[in-house]
Amino acid sequence: MAHPSTYQPENSFTKWLDARLPVLRLVHDQFLVFPTPRNLNYWWTFGGILTFMLAVQIVTGIVLAMHYVATPEHAFDSVEHVMRDVNWGWLIRYTHAVGASMFFLAVYVHTLRGLYYGSYKAPREVLWILGVLILLLMIVTAFMGYSLVWGQMSFWAVTVITNLFSSLDAVIPGLGTQLVQWIWGGFSVGAPTLSRLYSLHYLFPFIIAGVVVLHIWALHIPGNNNPTGIDVKSPRDTVPFHPYYTMKDGFALVLFAMLFAGFVFYAPNYLSHPDNYIPANPLQTPQHIVPEWYFLPFYAILRAVPDKLLGVMALLASISILFFVPWLDTSRVRSAKYRPIYKWFFWAFVVTCLALGYLGSQLPEGLYLVLGRLFTAYYFGFFLIVMPLLGRFEKPKRLPGSITESVLGPELEPPTATRPAAATKKRKPEAVL
Ligand code: HEM
Repeated sequence: MAHPSTYQPENSFTKWLDARLPVLRLVHDQFLVFPTPRNLNYWWTFGGILTFMLAVQIVTGIVLAMHYVATPEHAFDSVEHVMRDVNWGWLIRYTHAVGASMFFLAVYVHTLRGLYYGSYKAPREVLWILGVLILLLMIVTAFMGYSLVWGQMSFWAVTVITNLFSSLDAVIPGLGTQLVQWIWGGFSVGAPTLSRLYSLHYLFPFIIAGVVVLHIWALHIPGNNNPTGIDVKSPRDTVPFHPYYTMKDGFALVLFAMLFAGFVFYAPNYLSHPDNYIPANPLQTPQHIVPEWYFLPFYAILRAVPDKLLGVMALLASISILFFVPWLDTSRVRSAKYRPIYKWFFWAFVVTCLALGYLGSQLPEGLYLVLGRLFTAYYFGFFLIVMPLLGRFEKPKRLPGSITESVLGPELEPPTATRPAAATKKRKPEAVL
């Protein structure tokens, strides 16, 4: 929330710096005393967890890059060299590989939290759009990183996914094939493909970091949403970010790090595919080509459509539809806590994503294919039918008069002239737009 600066430089150095580059003022105003709703629950700790994960991926990635060789002849061996010969190389590599999974786990929770509490609604549309952009960049970055191992799954995943562009041949004959060969830098996935994937995989995390800065900037203009979805109305509704949320975020981060460490130390390969320990062989296609777990729902959507071009369009639409959510949802109330029907559709959407994840790992045939199509239909129906229509018909529950009332209850609220409606039962649901 934009608020007047309360920073007081304490010594001559901080006064000098403040007059030239008020970076300490920025940290003080935006991260220490920043007024934050007093009722944020643990779902709000994932933004901090994500920031931590981005830093982990960048730091471990830079160290890996010191030993990695981006040529088809040496890529696989250079990864094994890191694992076996480099001091603590196994830890760096497993942290980076498992880190990608944990990053996606956190980003999916973070996004679903936004969908549940209506954090995309005005005035937070730009914040949301920047989030979706980050998600897209993360998907591309993780895909490129996976290819660098140059194992069987890496190689064939690159072959399958880059080949999707050839579907454009159905629009302009030859265009798709030209595009694929341009991406490959040749007539098949090979040395030029690997070096460009490496170059971009190194670049993208820094672009993500830049968009994250914009994301947090866009958050700090309207301030946080909160579980009630109602706006901050008085200073009583907020607490300073430090120490209240630095402590809460820190505690959640420790729990998350324990889960992360559990995978790194006890099951580092649990989340990945064993075939990626076979060096890439362009002459032998694996029996089943499956992506990493975090791409499985999108993979299921791609395969649910029996036409190549339409399948690719459905795949792209499954992510880009998120850009339009602020305008697809017509409800006047933000939080699903007060939307008795939407709540159920939301949980059905979560089940759909999990089911699509499972189906993405199975062969697209028989019952799996039928279910894949049904869940794909619900996935899009949720955004295109439920969100626009339900908001018009659903009767929301009564909203609390303020954030403070939702925490302390109406009876503890001082009866002030500014809050007459808080205790009345017949109060109309608050409009948010
Ligand atoms: C690298 C990835 C990301 C990072 C580091 C990040 C970081 C953050 C941080 C620090 C916050 C404030 C704390 C919180 O509300 O949890 C936040 C809020 C938010 N983020 Fe993200 N985010 C990321 C990705 C995304 C994505 C993919 C989306 C949605 C598609 C998204 C949507 C939002 C929304 C709507 C809020 C406001 C929440 C509220 O106030 O209710 N973010 N993000």
